[in-house]
Amino acid sequence: MPSISSTAGATSAPPLAAPAPPASPAPSRAADDSLAPAQAAQEPRRPAHAAQEPLRPAHAAQEPLRPAQAAPELLLPHAALRRWLVACIVAVFLAVSVGGITRLTESGLSITEWKPVSGVLPPTTPEAWAVEFEKFQRIPQAQTTHAGMTITEFKWIFWWEWFHRIIARTVGLVFAIPFLWYLAKGVIPRGLRVRLAWLPFLTLCQGVLGWYMVSSGLSERTEVSPYRLAAHLSLALAILVIALWTWADLTPRKDEAAASRGWRTTVNALTALIAITIVTGAFVAGLRAGRIFNEFPLMGGQVVPPGYLALGGWWRNALENPVAAQFHHRTLAIVVAGFALVVGWRARGAALSALQARAMRRLVWAVMLQVAVGIVTLLWAVPVALGALHQFTGVVLLTAAVLAVHAVRSAPPPFRFRASAAHSPVSLPSS
Ligand code: HEM
Repeated sequence: MPSISSTAGATSAPPLAAPAPPASPAPSRAADDSLAPAQAAQEPRRPAHAAQEPLRPAHAAQEPLRPAQAAPELLLPHAALRRWLVACIVAVFLAVSVGGITRLTESGLSITEWKPVSGVLPPTTPEAWAVEFEKFQRIPQAQTTHAGMTITEFKWIFWWEWFHRIIARTVGLVFAIPFLWYLAKGVIPRGLRVRLAWLPFLTLCQGVLGWYMVSSGLSERTEVSPYRLAAHLSLALAILVIALWTWADLTPRKDEAAASRGWRTTVNALTALIAITIVTGAFVAGLRAGRIFNEFPLMGGQVVPPGYLALGGWWRNALENPVAAQFHHRTLAIVVAGFALVVGWRARGAALSALQARAMRRLVWAVMLQVAVGIVTLLWAVPVALGALHQFTGVVLLTAAVLAVHAVRSAPPPFRFRASAAHSPVSLPSS
């Protein structure tokens, strides 16, 4: 018998039977409630703590329970979309993390061709490995960073890049298949169709951009262009932000009111600064600037490091001079840390809802964690594990910042699910 999961405040459609009427009231805002008031009024509301519990149709009460895996899982539309978005968010986290390790292990240029379909199959025979190795040895990086590499060592970096590409393809499928499935089933509300269509489209662009980045390291340079690396990371994070924001939009909130304008401006400004710091971090990574001046807080014993403006114009230094890139990144990080501490201090006892106060606390802690990991990463001259961790916590920080921006705004009006779809359970694409 199918089981149906819902979320807080969601109502179920006949012939489903919900548990006994709740002792506690349901959340004040739920997308479905406002769309089918007549229907919702006749249906018992589920208590908040029952949100994640599966509902069973009434006649199932007499039937023995069957093993869970035998039943295709059904969800109400907004819950199905939210679950899909969580999968998208997890997929982006995974792809960014593996991408970071691929770069840190200098594995990214080990596959010198882009074959979106046939590239799924790795070499399986010694001859096929020899061909791949031979292609790799033709690129400049094989004569510099990987000079003297054996085929056994080559296989190690090959597998990282192959794994990264496989994950990237999987991310594409996680975005595209459920989107097309839900679109075909008429589950996606009109106000979300274009926004959600951006997700698979941008993921496709991300694949193309990834190859554009790799190609920049195959002929003259010994590593990829820092500009393209920064663009690749930024686009991954833009995709994450869209998925996160939409997930938050679809999540029922108990508090509906926005925080004061001052708080909204403050959180927006802090988030903008964090985003800029992330982009400067990508340039530090792309220019391998974390392996110079492995000291903190001074650089070369000075506040402004020697060689800061070695390349002429300010912009050129900021984007191409490793010394300037590191100086800007750490300076911005210090400003972000100070700003976050002030925000955390002012949030104590401020007129914020519980959700907003919690979002502020998470944001402040995420900043502190990120700065601490960044300093240790620098002092230890970027070992792979710490470099990967710093990138991962950077994504966690962005997540906390986006959710804080969302929390201080007023709850968005509920999306208009099609009347026929709003209360009809849908199966997941895999079911
Ligand atoms: C708000 C604070 C910070 C944010 C949001 C942030 C974010 C980032 C990001 C996104 C990267 C790029 C990672 C990659 O593409 O692999 C990065 C790299 C880096 N960051 Fe930070 N960072 C922060 C603070 C710091 C601090 C305080 C330090 C040290 C003083 C630091 C040192 C580094 C270093 C050395 C790298 C290069 C790592 C590598 O080569 O992989 N970061 N940062």
